[in-house]
Amino acid sequence: MDRRQFLQHSALLLAASGAGRAVAAPPTADPLSLRAGPLLRRFRGIDAPTEVWGYNASLPGPTLRLRQGARLRATLENQLPEVTTLHWHGMRVPHAMDGVPGITQPPVAPGQRFDYEFVARDAGTYWYHPHHRSHEQIGRGLAGAVIVEEAQAPEVDQDLVWLLADFKLDPRTGAHAPFDVIAEHAESGRLGNVFTINGELAGADFDFPVQSGQRVRLRLINAATARVFQLRFAQHAPLQIAFDGQAVPPHAPSEGQIALAPGQRVDLILDCAAAPESRHLVSDAASGRSLATMRYLPLPALAHDRFKAPLRLARNELPTLNLKKPSEHTIEFKGGDSGPPIIGMVDGKPVPYKDMRERHKLAWTLNSESLAEDAKTITPLLVAKRGSTQVLNLVNSTGFIHPMHLHGNFMRVLSQNGVRRPFEEWRDTVALQPFDEIQVAFVAEEPGDWVFHCHLLEHAAAGMVGVFRIE
Ligand code: C2O
Ligand code: CU
Repeated sequence: MDRRQFLQHSALLLAASGAGRAVAAPPTADPLSLRAGPLLRRFRGIDAPTEVWGYNASLPGPTLRLRQGARLRATLENQLPEVTTLHWHGMRVPHAMDGVPGITQPPVAPGQRFDYEFVARDAGTYWYHPHHRSHEQIGRGLAGAVIVEEAQAPEVDQDLVWLLADFKLDPRTGAHAPFDVIAEHAESGRLGNVFTINGELAGADFDFPVQSGQRVRLRLINAATARVFQLRFAQHAPLQIAFDGQAVPPHAPSEGQIALAPGQRVDLILDCAAAPESRHLVSDAASGRSLATMRYLPLPALAHDRFKAPLRLARNELPTLNLKKPSEHTIEFKGGDSGPPIIGMVDGKPVPYKDMRERHKLAWTLNSESLAEDAKTITPLLVAKRGSTQVLNLVNSTGFIHPMHLHGNFMRVLSQNGVRRPFEEWRDTVALQPFDEIQVAFVAEEPGDWVFHCHLLEHAAAGMVGVFRIE
């Protein structure tokens, strides 16, 4: 079999553990298994091993690579001590495959399995993760990348994935810090002290080897529950080519910093033009930490013609907005410990903030509703006709950042605080800065209840979840 035939035969190329390394497993007609379960990891600087959760005994789970239009079949096997599911973040999957317990499927009990199967409609960088107590299950490590390859991808020398995460560990015992601290849920979330890239400790020692003259595509995924990254590449000028898997005109990030809120992805092109054997830090300006070192190999520089090749990605076929006659809705976010006291609707009853917080462990509202994961009643935030265009005025009346994620549909970002976006930008996760107003639009696609929630996952755990009903 030559390489081309090999690719044609394998609907699904499964890269082995260690996301980012391009290792293709032999093609298989069988569905792939993803076994969620505990494993032990030792992080430098932490005195004892940590029990993390991963898939197939790997942290993060294996990177799934498939071509656009291929069918993904995966069986989740639950070897955790609690229920779980798989959500395919950003992928437009049929409603029954969306992985939201109680809304799209029953939760998968320990020892049980669930089969997921769908066609990868859109090319781009996506990820999978559980959708039960996500702040804890993702916080313990459950996540993996899904890469859907374009029919025609820009030519690069390396195509890498960096799944960024953080863990909040006791430096002595290696144990996870508690997951349900309401004072964290009602503020900026649970911020970890151990940063990882593809499950390895991030820091100046994290090795990122390149050869001078190489063009590298770097797919960044923010799988941290609460941390916002602002990435800088010293002496390099990365170009952003996709947000949340969707093509954008190649452009430099503002102030040279790549902003990545929880849940979001950015695809970068890095032209590596520095001298052989030079070293350059990759750092996070938000935390002031070093994350990695670009290490130029002691190899002669390649000719730079690579850098002239076209970069622009083909767009996925997203539905066309009808902005002449949209339905318009305002969704206002309120709450948090440092905000003005609010009254939230909890299971249909008004509850003052103090009781929301103390009795229900809730702290945030969307249009006054605060939805606990085990809520008995769900009042949709909006009801949309299939095929209709919905315009949302998202109003952040809090002093906190909220990356808002919509399942099953991409949102076009129209404007931020009245300023129109300079280019067409589609997102599944839109980050609102404190007191931002952002206008987005989407075409209601498949019927069903689709979750719309904050991907700062402690906020979601504290009520910042709603449902869009498409009929
Ligand atoms: Cu990545 Cu509803 O989540
Ligand atoms: Cu939030």
